[in-house]
Amino acid sequence: MYTTFYQDHAIKTKIPDDAEGKICWKSPANIALIKYWGKETGQIPMNASLSFSLKKSVVKACMRYKVSITGEGGLQSFKVNGEENETFARRIKDYLLSLYPYFPCLGRLDLEIETHSTFPHSAGIASSAAAFSALALCLCSLEEALYGGKNQDEDFFRKASYMARLGSGSACRSVYDGFALWGETRHYQTGSNLFATRLFEQDVNPLFNTLQDAILVADSSAKKVSSSSGHAMMKNHPFRESRIEQVELNMQKFLNAIKEGDEKTFVEVIENEALTLHGLMMTSDPGYLLMKPGTLEMIEKIRNFREETGINVGFTLDAGPNIHLIYFEKDAKKVRPFITSGLAPYCQNGLWMDDGMGTGPGKINNL
Ligand code: PMV
Repeated sequence: MYTTFYQDHAIKTKIPDDAEGKICWKSPANIALIKYWGKETGQIPMNASLSFSLKKSVVKACMRYKVSITGEGGLQSFKVNGEENETFARRIKDYLLSLYPYFPCLGRLDLEIETHSTFPHSAGIASSAAAFSALALCLCSLEEALYGGKNQDEDFFRKASYMARLGSGSACRSVYDGFALWGETRHYQTGSNLFATRLFEQDVNPLFNTLQDAILVADSSAKKVSSSSGHAMMKNHPFRESRIEQVELNMQKFLNAIKEGDEKTFVEVIENEALTLHGLMMTSDPGYLLMKPGTLEMIEKIRNFREETGINVGFTLDAGPNIHLIYFEKDAKKVRPFITSGLAPYCQNGLWMDDGMGTGPGKINNL
């Protein structure tokens, strides 16, 4: 139903000549526990994924808008952490152009955009999901500022999620707090390939709203194979079909575990998803490896710690070498000393970041 909905309902009303203002949003990065890997044309995921939004890893974005005197609007400047950034500016320009059918007003506005991320670039956390989410939220607010609107209701976030997806797939999950699901699955009714939705409160045991994520930086150098190339290689991947089946099975186990409060199955599933993601990379054509020796050392340590203590802590990995140590807040007293003495020594320059489930995006006044 939503495939062409936002284009069909694009607002074409002329904007007042003196329209001018500034809109800012902050949006979190998210960490996927059920992984999106592989996409079809139009940013449609090969399989459903599920993530939670982080508390401290956040991108803020401010958008200044003004009616263009030439009648032809466009991006006038784009700054990242206070500096003009040509590479990103090009990507954002293309992104905005691709959104004209949804927001015809963009064709008449001059825009100046500035973003700021709260986490160090060296942390290896992709800021693109948080950035595209923040930008999409700014665009939806811009529309409300120009034409009036219902003020950030469910439809607002659904639309923002749809627009964020067009910038970067996983970004569509960053417009929510808590757990976000993106993609169709047999195991959850609201799953859509076009936008993410939040899991219903009754489907999440409160224990799972206390998840912590220690981001352990095994290596911060730029990765040799981009996520886009990785996604593309899933098209003819020998394990494509079995991956699609496996994800459904993992999704079912995962949803069941977080509803029932089953910590053990939760940990089993998230580690299986992380290792599968990297297994798919190794068995792509050409195959590649993003894990580093430090990654493997930490995995070994985490599994030993879990066996020795009986504490349900596990790891996940993004498309990179860094470990995300996932644990419950109730275990923090025992897990923290393990991080600092058992894992930090394997991190590059001892770098790790203490994060966890956050409260989602929010409108702000300034960067
Ligand atoms: O949104 P992209 O194209 O950067 O892909 C992200 C893919 C993973 O981070 C590896 C998994 C995920 O679901 O976020």
